Amino acid sequence: MRVQVAIIGGGPSGLLLSQLLHRKGIDTIVLERKTREYVLGRIRAGILETGFVELMREAGVAERMDKECFVHDGTVISYGDIEFGINFKELTGSHVVVYGQTEVTRDLYDARDAMGGKIVFNADDIQIHGADSDTPYVTYQADGTGHRIDCDFVAGCDGFHGVSRQTIPLTVRREYEKVYPFGWLGVLSETPPVHDELIYAGSERGFALCSMRNENLSRYYIQCSLSDSADDWTDQAFWQELKRRIPAQYAATLITGPSVEKSIAALRSFVTEPMRWGRLFLCGDAAHIVPPTGAKGLNTAASDIHYLHNALLQFYEDHDSEGIDRYSEKALARIWKAERFSWSTTNLLHRFPEQNGFDLKMQKADIDFLRENKEAQSVFAQNYVGLPY
Ligand code: APR
Ligand code: PHB
Repeated sequence: MRVQVAIIGGGPSGLLLSQLLHRKGIDTIVLERKTREYVLGRIRAGILETGFVELMREAGVAERMDKECFVHDGTVISYGDIEFGINFKELTGSHVVVYGQTEVTRDLYDARDAMGGKIVFNADDIQIHGADSDTPYVTYQADGTGHRIDCDFVAGCDGFHGVSRQTIPLTVRREYEKVYPFGWLGVLSETPPVHDELIYAGSERGFALCSMRNENLSRYYIQCSLSDSADDWTDQAFWQELKRRIPAQYAATLITGPSVEKSIAALRSFVTEPMRWGRLFLCGDAAHIVPPTGAKGLNTAASDIHYLHNALLQFYEDHDSEGIDRYSEKALARIWKAERFSWSTTNLLHRFPEQNGFDLKMQKADIDFLRENKEAQSVFAQNYVGLPY
């Protein structure tokens, strides 16, 4: 088989790129290691920058999102007994959209089905060949048979543990990583959200976050030890700890309920450079990871897809390789700013084991400056709603 673009990974990055390219008549195939059900079973974040929303519209998959999403014009930040709001709308004229990544992925799969997009599930042992040549191809095993896909380009959208990044030789790749000394214990509960905006809470006991998926599905997180396992936490223990970390007014009105999902995620900052090697392009988690504090994981994948989609259009329609030649440079310029924001908000609101009294004074001074200074809040808001593509 031959396609113009072989896409490895059927998560949000791969599906969005496939949908955008297909709508412009560019032939793709998506090779996904797992089943559709497995991919849709992943619980991930749900904060979309307006740039992502526009991409979903451009891809023709925004109808359900427009009906069911929540528009958030701001967020609450608390630190011990300090509490204040940051008004995105007032400070930037923009906002974010709350719509679960699972729903984004579901909408993308439905759209691919409607267009007859080629997706192979349970694709095993995927290997990329000749990425640094003009005749790349991909091989994989499925249904007990070996397959080969000849293509013009390969888009590595296969996440942090995928094969794409590993295909780029270590002599070419430069990797930058920071692993945080704590995790996030997340709970999904069929309960109404405690507040109509998100609450990012720092406290002497650690970080907490109150989020949501819809009016009767809430998502909560507390910072936890990396030695914890989800089974160590009963629902009761989780709710009790959450209440101790968020402002008293919300602790008093929090409606608790049984967890329908409970899991622990490790936190890391990671970037690989370059994001292109020959005819292989890395997108999304295959190239970079952020701690979830800034809600940038899905949104940084989106800007990669924006740049690569336009670069490939420029190549096929204008026979101009300027876009693909500058893809890595342009994608990384925005990625590093998102990495900085995610790293800084994580430092601002989490307790680190090695923090001493001075460190805590610095953290408190950062919070006080953010609370008191509109320019500081504007910087936070511009980063949160999404820097320009
Ligand atoms: N071969 C084929 N598919 C693979 C392979 C492989 N070797 N390795 C991983 N995959 C698949 C995974 O099963 C997954 O469905 O690639 C997909 C990668 O999807 P994500 O990890 O979601 O990454 P991405 O699409 O870039 O989305 C980034 O979504 O998952 C969140 O935290 C992530 O918010 C971030 C955003
Ligand atoms: C979520 O709703 O899962 C969520 C929201 C904001 C974040 C992280 C996760 O910063």
